[in-house]
Order: sequence, then C-alpha cells, then structure tokens
Amino acid sequence: MSDAPSATRLPPAIEVENLTVSYGPTLALLDISLTIEPGRLVGVIGPNGSGKSTLIKAILGFVNPDFGEVRLFGEPAEKAKGRVAYVPQRGSVDWSFPITVREVAQMGRFGHVPWWRDLNAQDRRLSDEALKMVRMEEFAHRQIGQLSGGQQQRVFMARAMAQGAEILLLDEPFAGVDAATERAILDVLERTRAAGRTLVVVHHDLGTAAEYFDTIVLIKQRLYAVGPPAAVLHPELLSEVYEGKLKAFADLERNQTTVKSATAH
Ligand SMILES: Nc1ncnc2c1ncn2[C@@H]1O[C@H](COP(=O)(O)OP(=O)(O)O)[C@@H](O)[C@H]1O
Ligand SMILES: [Mg+2]
Repeated sequence: MSDAPSATRLPPAIEVENLTVSYGPTLALLDISLTIEPGRLVGVIGPNGSGKSTLIKAILGFVNPDFGEVRLFGEPAEKAKGRVAYVPQRGSVDWSFPITVREVAQMGRFGHVPWWRDLNAQDRRLSDEALKMVRMEEFAHRQIGQLSGGQQQRVFMARAMAQGAEILLLDEPFAGVDAATERAILDVLERTRAAGRTLVVVHHDLGTAAEYFDTIVLIKQRLYAVGPPAAVLHPELLSEVYEGKLKAFADLERNQTTVKSATAH
C-alpha cells in the first residue's frame, strides 16, 4: 500500500467563506474569506468597530451571517460546536458568583457528563491538568472574584482546555492588564498552541502583534490581509486601514525600538 493516507493534509481548523454580517443597517463584515491551519496563534487586528468581535462571534455561531459560511475542521460549524471554546471578556462575567477556580475548570467537563451522574475521576483529572497548564493549580480553592484580571482569563482558558476544545477564541485578553500579567497570559497562549490547539485572539496593540502571533488577520469590515506578521504589518497597509491614526504608528515604532534595544545586549 502507498503511504498516501498519512500524507493527506488535515482539514483547516477554521474556514471562513464569503462571510457578510450586518446588525440592521450597520454592516459589520463584508465578504470575508480566510483559512486558518491547525496549531496557529492568530492575532485579529483592526481599528475600533472594524468587526473583530463580530468575526469571533460568527466563528462561534453567535451571530447569523447575511451570507457566507464557517467550517471548523472541514465540517459545518454547527457540527463542530464542542471543538471550539470562547474565552469571554472579563466584563461579561459575574465575578461575585460564589464559585471556585477548580469549579470553573470542572465546568468544562459538564458537556461530557450525562445529567444523571457526577464528574468522575477522569473528569476531575482533566480539569486539574488544565489548571496546571495555565499555572493556576495553587489557586484551586480560591473564589473567582478574588483573582486578578489575568488570573481570571487563565481560569477561563483552563475551562476551555478541560472541555477538550481544539480551537480557542479570545476577545482582547490583554485589555486592562499590567505588563507582568500580559506576559503570563501570553505564556499560556503559547503553551496552549504548543499543545496543538488553534488560537484566535482579538488584539488591539499593533506594537506587540508581530511578537505575539505567527499569523495576523487585518480587518476593517473587509479582509485587508492575512499571513505572517512581516507580510501583514506593512506601514502602507496599516496607514490605509487605520487612516493614518498616529497612535498606531507610534506603538509600532516603540516596539521596533524595543526589539532593537532587546537584541543589542
Ligand atoms: N449588537 C450590535 N448591534 C448593533 N450594532 C453592532 C452590534 N455589535 C456590533 N455592532 C456594530 O458592528 C460594527 C463592528 O463591531 P465589532 O465587531 O464589535 O467591532 P470591533 O470588535 O472591531 O470593535 C460596529 O460598527 C459596531 O458598532
Ligand atoms: Mg471588539
């Protein structure tokens, strides 16, 4: 027998085809087509209101497109629901809810457990492994309301991993966290990718995008570019998409300076 089957390529993790989404009269996304291969750490960038969150919601099936479709691992998105998880923005969670870190991670297993039985040893092991993965095992008994913003993000990533999700979608996980926390979250994103997962992360800081992601999606209603950072983060293209908003370039320059000074010693 030939070895052709082993040479067969895996289907892409995410395929978006001719996706158009509007909210009443507001056009949010227009004719977006893109393909994300498994194991990528993807940054979605674009100015405010450019449709980044809408793209995430469309991949999750939270919004109905006017046109177009999303496939996950070659299947219609509805069939692959268990394979994708959303890590919510901090603002969308009730942090006063009396639940511990371990219980949040265990919630990831509920979808796998029939209603008549409790979590078994395997479910508990998988949730504890997920907590270790995000380096939150020592906080297992802590109430979620008593965590820092970055720790809260990491607990929700653990829930997604305990669930066994192969695709994680995060909307601005770095918003409002300090530099040390940003590093800790990035470390978890990288470990998650190293474990073979695909991550799509909405990101607002052009200055760090090239360093954090292996693939960049640049959108403003339309798809302007998708590919490696060096190919996408071109001054002319950014100037077109950000309409010369100076802050974006100041960030980019600051980062290039940082990279230079970091390699200087
Ligand atoms: N639920 C909604 N109802 C009406 N308009 C919305 C809604 N959500 C987003 N929009 C609009 O759709 C566009 C894209 O929004 P969004 O995807 O949130 O952009 P981004 O995440 O890039 O800031 C914006 O013009 C926004 O005002
Ligand atoms: Mg948004």
